[in-house]
Amino acid sequence: MQHDFKAKTGELPIDLDNPDSIASMDAGGMLSAISGLPSQCREAWEIASTVTIPAEYRNRENVISIGMGGSAIGGDLVRTLTASEMNQPMTVIRGYDIPGFVSDKTLAILSSYSGNTEETLTAYESCNKRGAKIVAITSGGRLAELARKDGVPLVLVPSGLQPRAALGYLFLTALSIVQKAGLVTDKSEDVEEACDVLEQLVGVLGPSSPAEVNQSKRLAMHMFGRIPVIYAAVGFPAAAALRWKCQINENSKTHAFWNEIPEMNHNETVGWSALDEIQKALCVIFLRDKGEHPRIAKRFEITKSIVKGASSINDVHSLGRSELARLLSLIYVGDFASFYLALLYGVDPTPVKVIEFLKSELAK
Ligand code: PA5
Repeated sequence: MQHDFKAKTGELPIDLDNPDSIASMDAGGMLSAISGLPSQCREAWEIASTVTIPAEYRNRENVISIGMGGSAIGGDLVRTLTASEMNQPMTVIRGYDIPGFVSDKTLAILSSYSGNTEETLTAYESCNKRGAKIVAITSGGRLAELARKDGVPLVLVPSGLQPRAALGYLFLTALSIVQKAGLVTDKSEDVEEACDVLEQLVGVLGPSSPAEVNQSKRLAMHMFGRIPVIYAAVGFPAAAALRWKCQINENSKTHAFWNEIPEMNHNETVGWSALDEIQKALCVIFLRDKGEHPRIAKRFEITKSIVKGASSINDVHSLGRSELARLLSLIYVGDFASFYLALLYGVDPTPVKVIEFLKSELAK
């Protein structure tokens, strides 16, 4: 489907193929953080390999992952990737309170990049009181202090990034902990493959690849002046869709929404009976995976016919053999696309002043 943003919004404000205009707007260096994801993933796997998980942490009855925002998504990725293999239920918690089932039979992964997020620190204290087997993942802050004081395993990752740009550190170290706790098989081969796939994608999606053949640049052009709506199959593709939404919010500083199939077939599809002007304001992106259930594949096709009033409809296909590589490849197209979209909107992708404002107001 052809995009028509030029008719609506005029010419693109910058040329995404011009390295000078990219550099001038990326003061915070988000492009280098995004391009560095493959090496960050390799480093994360290395860091985690040096962490000792005590014997009493093994084979717990349930797993919780606690964090907020950029430090929470790694938990979603681990949960959705390991769901079919892990016998224990895993729950991702975003908030102050922990569920009633948390006990000394629980493996609790506490993740905060800054180490100072109040919801996560509150939940840490509750996990500690219940005797949960805690592992802390952080670059420092109060969480590192608490972990040292309480003698719980600490995964210390490098500081100096935005939390969302530390996805490799936060996600792969959490995956490694679940593996070390005896809950899933060795993922080293999948990590290796995923890093290779991501490295290839840097060339395909990075700034030196022209918009003509660069899917992330083209998607940014489709999203420009529209509200992106990301749809993906339940499971790890849906976790990738959430990552897309958050990256568009924080990097591009604009609204984005996501939902999963089949659930959205039971409610959100009806919203596509809205006024033409509303539908035209939306740009739909479907995240597709070769492993999706055949009925889900059929649902995608039918859903496409329902959302045909959107300004554009685009498919993004995962790459790679393992689910880990396929998940990270879906995420990577969105990471780059959100970066280019920020440039089209004339904003520096890195700072998130609104989040800082909120945290400083809460601290008063
Ligand atoms: O992307 C962000 O900056 C936020 O979503 C943060 O990750 C969130 O506020 C939690 O902070 P931290 O990751 O330091 O625990």
